[in-house]
Amino acid sequence: MRNLRVNGQRLWLSLMELAQIGATPKGGVCRLAASDLDGEARRLFIRWCEEAGCAVRVDRIGNIFARRHGRDPNLPPVMAGSHLDTQPTGGKFDGAYGVMAGLEVVRSLNDVGYETEAPIEIVAWTNEEGSRFSPAMVGSGVFAGVFELAEGLGRPDNVTGVTLGAELQRIGFAGPEQVGGRPVGAYFEAHIEQGPILEAAGKPIGVVTGAQGQRWYEITVAGQEAHAGPTPMPRRRDALVGAARMIDAVNRIGLAHAPYACATVGFVQVSPNSRNTIPGRVFFTVDFRHPEDAVLTLMDGELRRACESAAAPTGLEVEVKEFWYFPPTPFDLELVTTVRNAAEAQGYPHQDIISGAGHDAVYMARVAPAAMIFVPCAGGISHNEIEDANPEDLTAGCNVLLNAVLAIGTRR
Ligand code: GLV
Ligand code: MN
Ligand code: MN
Repeated sequence: MRNLRVNGQRLWLSLMELAQIGATPKGGVCRLAASDLDGEARRLFIRWCEEAGCAVRVDRIGNIFARRHGRDPNLPPVMAGSHLDTQPTGGKFDGAYGVMAGLEVVRSLNDVGYETEAPIEIVAWTNEEGSRFSPAMVGSGVFAGVFELAEGLGRPDNVTGVTLGAELQRIGFAGPEQVGGRPVGAYFEAHIEQGPILEAAGKPIGVVTGAQGQRWYEITVAGQEAHAGPTPMPRRRDALVGAARMIDAVNRIGLAHAPYACATVGFVQVSPNSRNTIPGRVFFTVDFRHPEDAVLTLMDGELRRACESAAAPTGLEVEVKEFWYFPPTPFDLELVTTVRNAAEAQGYPHQDIISGAGHDAVYMARVAPAAMIFVPCAGGISHNEIEDANPEDLTAGCNVLLNAVLAIGTRR
């Protein structure tokens, strides 16, 4: 089976068909977690899995598992997957690629009638993006026991407050299965890199050795609403001016820890958001990332001091709440080696790489051996409608996935 190859054209066509669901005018995809469109994509995925002979189950947080039987039903499954939800200005490949690559592995094994020892499960995790419902990686987080089920189901939509659980019910994906609590033999996730490294190096395969750590914050700045006309400048307690200074500080903290630190403010709510009232309250989020935990800790201290010193001079109150954290996560040495060997055996140029993005593999690494395969994306751009990847690289990544799945799945 060493020479078995996936059908790259079929993989590409499936990705393009899936991308029609939530397609945006600029060529991207907007398919927010637990929206109607997410439901539609899930149903298409399930249909394809059933056509490929898989038995499909949905758990109580909406994770979908499509199982292709192995010779030994007692062996824990080898899983391959990712997510079907996207960012508001998402692309065709982030998440979708990992799920479709898992499906293509199964279809390719079906083509030649090859039976593995262990079952294979293609998985689509719920709410990986953390855009509509925060934080990210909620479905895999509940599966891995990082979040309680009730906590996951209770996550509110960042704008409307409707819960993830209610929305899963509404779209028909609050499944009956218990979440997690069962052994997984190995978890592989294929993904576009979402950064520029592989493209610059001209390498089709990134052997992902781990993911950098993240700290997310929710910051509330409280001042006082007042009239934009009669209120003299020195008397103002303008929450937005304070927040703007804090946001600038976030950016400077990221720059100060170059080249690896990342610091982003991506969500801001201004209240009352009226053009002739001085803003009395601002809520914003901070996303810090770094491959070293110690640097994240330094950045934490700097953020808190910067917020206090931006607030004090104008009598603002600021609350800095750490909202989410995971440490830098190394992937399983044996699986990483399996991925590297699979790339090597097929003659694909490859290099080791650390993931800048969060992925379901990060949480799966807590309960199973986990590893990832990266392929380049155009200009390193992702979380953008112009996100693009070339079919040859996507095929290469899927071939590596197939061979890695077989290396583990054919063990007795
Ligand atoms: C997931 O898309 C992330 O923010 O890393
Ligand atoms: Mn993703
Ligand atoms: Mn993403």
